[in-house]
Amino acid sequence: MNFAKRFKSISDPTVSDLLKLTESPGIISFAGGTPSADALPYALIKKILPELEIDLQYTPTQGIKSLRERLAKIYSDKWNSKITPDQILITSGSQQALDLIAKVFINKGDKVFVENLTYFVALYAFNAYEPKYQSISAEKISGEEKLSGKLIYLVSNFQNPTGKTISEIQRRNIANAVIAKDLILIEDDPYGELFFSDCPPKPIALLAPENTIYLTSVSKIMGPALRLGIAISTPETIQALTRAKTGMDLCTSGLLQQLAGKILIEPKYQDHLIRIRKFYAGKCGAMLSALKKHMPDSVSWTKPEGGLFIWMELPDKIDTAVLYKKALTKGAAFVPGYIFSPTGKLNNCLRLSFASPTLAEINTGIATLANLIKSNL
Ligand SMILES: Cc1ncc(COP(=O)(O)O)c(C=O)c1O
Repeated sequence: MNFAKRFKSISDPTVSDLLKLTESPGIISFAGGTPSADALPYALIKKILPELEIDLQYTPTQGIKSLRERLAKIYSDKWNSKITPDQILITSGSQQALDLIAKVFINKGDKVFVENLTYFVALYAFNAYEPKYQSISAEKISGEEKLSGKLIYLVSNFQNPTGKTISEIQRRNIANAVIAKDLILIEDDPYGELFFSDCPPKPIALLAPENTIYLTSVSKIMGPALRLGIAISTPETIQALTRAKTGMDLCTSGLLQQLAGKILIEPKYQDHLIRIRKFYAGKCGAMLSALKKHMPDSVSWTKPEGGLFIWMELPDKIDTAVLYKKALTKGAAFVPGYIFSPTGKLNNCLRLSFASPTLAEINTGIATLANLIKSNL
């Protein structure tokens, strides 16, 4: 077919083929980025659905007003700072917000800073607009950093893929750096509600409100099927993103906006959040124990305080793209590290998700991986 030139560089089809294999029957998969089915609010949604006043119309492109008002109140209280409904855009998942931002802000050749380990599907949204990427380490940006470019993309809490959270001091440095160079910061935060004990620090959005587009999503807490993302920024930026969204899908599903709005005001929703934080803390603890028990000394890993992921570093000589294929034959799966690297490096790393396997599967699967790694040393 006579596809547009940009299509070639949009995404890497080998990655989706690789991820499909992790879902084969009989595999203990630590690969998925999806929430556990046991941590989604099925009972709550079943209760709410019959009570929903069904409206089958289009909604305003920016999102249902009452939902934006509710969210403005929730974020004003949570951040102890005034957020107004005109600062909020409802998107079809935060993935759509990433595409809208790229559409509105990126000219061909604009410099976009991304972490040297990043959520690679964000790049799939940016690629069509042909930016030039430059890798940065969020942990190392200093307040005086000369970050000349257009955009910077960071995941501030329990990052995908590393599980790391940007410290409070580092958030200040990043805010100072983006303000100094008038950069646009995309602060992507789909995992912030999944903290195990302490709530993560306040978002960078509060330290550099004029420069930041804060994104969050209900995917990991209510379910990806709701396809509901929330963008918070200045009214001017929100208006521009809304204009771009009109040409993309006119509006996010009104039914799903109504449903999410109802869930937010259910008293039991807070209990649900408390339950799933405990649930994932237990899963993460089980994986950390299994890693400690089974892995050889030459392997290290992150110890996240929330989210769904652990990042592992193996000795240099092990290529995780090769290890991945061997692991599948032994019945375990992970995501090889190179997939998250904009430069395609970090071949000795891998991402593990503790979300979906049972506690027993976590132990068995980690023991399988450990044996495989030992036999490759
Ligand atoms: C860092 C990050 N941003 C955005 C998304 C997309 O989320 P949504 O389901 O809201 O489109 C994901 C999904 O895994 C993610 O990990």
